[in-house]
Amino acid sequence: MAKQAVVPVVALALLLGALATIPAGVRSIGVCYGMNGDDLPSASDVVQLYKDNGIDSMRIYSPDTDVLQALSGSDIAVTVGVPNADVGAIASHPSAAAAWVQTYVLAFPAVQFRYIAVGNEVVGAGTESVLPAMRNLDRALSAAGLADDIKVSTAVTLDVVGTSFPPSAGSFLEEGYMTHVAQYLQSTGAPLLANVYPYYSYVSNPGQIDINYALFNWRSSNVLDGNNTYLNLFDAMVDCFYSALENAGAGNVTVVVSESGWPSAGSKAANASNSRTYSQNLINHVAQGTPKRPGVIEAYIYATFNEDHKLADDETRRHFGLFNKDRSLAYPIDFVSPKQDRSRPFGVP
Ligand SMILES: *[C@@H]1O[C@H](CO)[C@@H](O)[C@H](O)[C@H]1NC(C)=O
Ligand SMILES: *[C@@H]1O[C@H](CO)[C@@H](O)[C@H](O)[C@H]1NC(C)=O
Ligand SMILES: *[C@@H]1O[C@H](CO)[C@@H](O)[C@H](O)[C@H]1NC(C)=O
Repeated sequence: MAKQAVVPVVALALLLGALATIPAGVRSIGVCYGMNGDDLPSASDVVQLYKDNGIDSMRIYSPDTDVLQALSGSDIAVTVGVPNADVGAIASHPSAAAAWVQTYVLAFPAVQFRYIAVGNEVVGAGTESVLPAMRNLDRALSAAGLADDIKVSTAVTLDVVGTSFPPSAGSFLEEGYMTHVAQYLQSTGAPLLANVYPYYSYVSNPGQIDINYALFNWRSSNVLDGNNTYLNLFDAMVDCFYSALENAGAGNVTVVVSESGWPSAGSKAANASNSRTYSQNLINHVAQGTPKRPGVIEAYIYATFNEDHKLADDETRRHFGLFNKDRSLAYPIDFVSPKQDRSRPFGVP
């Protein structure tokens, strides 16, 4: 959750009448399972919690073997992170990548692995290792016959984009490593993982951004960009990534929203009511897609629990939990989008 670029708002009155249907069996809402807190429920309790609430995908930030064990045999797909501190070794040594795949993937044959996220919001010198580490992991997965099943990517914020407004002007920073990463993703068919926080864009510029535009609460005012009309900041941010990918020659790469959420405490705009509004609106929105890419958006809400151990100056970073430690909901929320077919058992194609 880095500070994200500001997207100024231009008000205009046009309505986007796009109605999308969700294809049967498509996974769309996942939840991030961060573990930087005291007295959190056990991994198996958390897996049960996801099942009870119809959450069909999980993102974890390191290959925690308790979690992988608990996920075995479940219908919950998992995105596993390679912690930033481990990326360098995997980049330098193909054998380290092979050992990683052996220890955390092949050792858990009953787990539905979806993506491997090589680093989360890597900045500075560490960015040089991201692409070589992705290549080494892809080779190790290929050797294990898993190249088609498990896609390797990296998770970034809008900070990798130099220009972010209007969305069609999105472009990766010239000196950045992202152009090469984007072209590599295009060649492997993996998505780009994007952490998208309208909250942080809003609080860094509340004078220019209407909170209702950040909370998906606008129905009549919007931002016009070429032929595309934006009713919410989330779509504008996601499409900014799509423009950057197109400008990098990687227009076929899909954006998966690997984190999004709104804190429930720690600032004036962070309260449970806004957090609930954002989360529920996001769940309801993912079936529609963005103006540039209508269709289902795969998205992961941050996060399962509040994390008191999260180190940050900003108090809001510790208040993203959807659930209390006793596994009750922090606020009422329905994880199954109304656009989805409720007659079908969730997660079953
Ligand atoms: C907008 O749509 C019109 C009509 O389809 C098309 O001619 C024009 O090129 C489009 N403009 C942009 C910026 O895509
Ligand atoms: C991008 O997708 C289009 C349509 O599916 C396909 O024709 C084209 O070959 C793809 N380009 C690359 C570079 O994969
Ligand atoms: C939450 O914050 C909004 C301002 O962003 C405010 O209008 C609302 O009253 C607050 N809700 C509660 C329950 O404090």
